[in-house]
Amino acid sequence: MLKRIMRAIECTKLGAPEDLELRDVPIPEPMRGQARIRVHAAGVNFTDSLRIAGRYQAVQELPFTPGLEVSGTLDAVGEGVTGLSVGDRVAAFTDYGGFAEYVTAPVESLIRLADGVSLDDAAAFLSAFGTTHHAYRQRARLRSGETVLVLGAGGGVGLAAVQLAKVLGAHVIAAASTDAKLDAARMSGADELINYRSDGLRDRLRTLTGGRGIDVVYDPVGGTLTEQAFRSLRWGGRHLVIGFAAGTIPSLPLNLPLLKGSSILGVFWGAFMQHEPQQHRENLHELFAWLAEGRLRPHIGARYRLAEASRAIRSVSEGGAVGKTILSIDHG
Ligand SMILES: NC(=O)c1ccc[n+]([C@@H]2O[C@H](COP(=O)([O-])OP(=O)(O)OC[C@H]3O[C@@H](n4cnc5c(N)ncnc54)[C@H](OP(=O)(O)O)[C@@H]3O)[C@@H](O)[C@H]2O)c1
Repeated sequence: MLKRIMRAIECTKLGAPEDLELRDVPIPEPMRGQARIRVHAAGVNFTDSLRIAGRYQAVQELPFTPGLEVSGTLDAVGEGVTGLSVGDRVAAFTDYGGFAEYVTAPVESLIRLADGVSLDDAAAFLSAFGTTHHAYRQRARLRSGETVLVLGAGGGVGLAAVQLAKVLGAHVIAAASTDAKLDAARMSGADELINYRSDGLRDRLRTLTGGRGIDVVYDPVGGTLTEQAFRSLRWGGRHLVIGFAAGTIPSLPLNLPLLKGSSILGVFWGAFMQHEPQQHRENLHELFAWLAEGRLRPHIGARYRLAEASRAIRSVSEGGAVGKTILSIDHG
């Protein structure tokens, strides 16, 4: 008999990961222009912890299911869908709803996967690499031979930033708080490593660049690291504002960009894909080709089951994860 009920993680009140509930809910029907995905795995993001706490830019109506990116197999398509069929293996940006056995998404947000790409890798790829690709290509206009400093380099977007900068021909300085995270950054191709818990960031950067400074900062951390990194830019350098995982949105004295002719560049991948859908598709085309060729490979540091979503989000939100964390969806 056709299954009509599925298990999903629901946020019924804004709060901590432990407030989430595993519930039985109706399987969603794809509307016109949508497809339904039988979810294989869902990427866990720092952003999920902000959304369930009501601390994200847009607050979602309750109840909702978190989970902004998934991989899986198409299970049904709505009216007007062409070019995709039931059984296709896909990755999807779902925005919400991914921590469930099934999710629907507009077909524009689906990417059909090449045969060699694993569904686990696909679930861990889209948001981290999509954000970083946009940051490097459209915002910083990163050039081969430039030096990039990646803060939080052992985290989800951080390791993507290390790998992608290497593919684009940059020299990469990875900075993180633990040796385990720095090991992962080294394995992802980082040229130099800085443990900013034990070493002074600015002194090490001065030594590593011979006093010249860095071209581009990739900053998903914020807090006190931001100003130290910004002060380490060379003339004309660019600082990519990705996020504030440290919990504090920093302020900068505006004489600093004046003195160095340097730029502060905001990055908001979710808004970019709405404002510039054609450029977004072109970015994904390039990224997924590199994934299929094996030039990029997400580092999956931890896997949890759907019922363990709270633990998974807690670990990511406290900065404990190395690389990406995914939920493997068991269809009981
Ligand atoms: N702008 C965009 O479009 C966009 C897209 C995706 C993600 N983001 C943002 O990027 C940031 C990172 O996301 P992610 O999913 O990669 O998270 P993640 O895997 O948890 O990485 C965040 C890193 O931040 C560092 N950190 C420092 N203080 C922390 C604290 N108090 N709690 C947690 N982490 C702390 C940690 O590195 P160390 O321990 O080495 O310091 C951690 O590895 C988030 O702020 C997220 O919202 C933005």
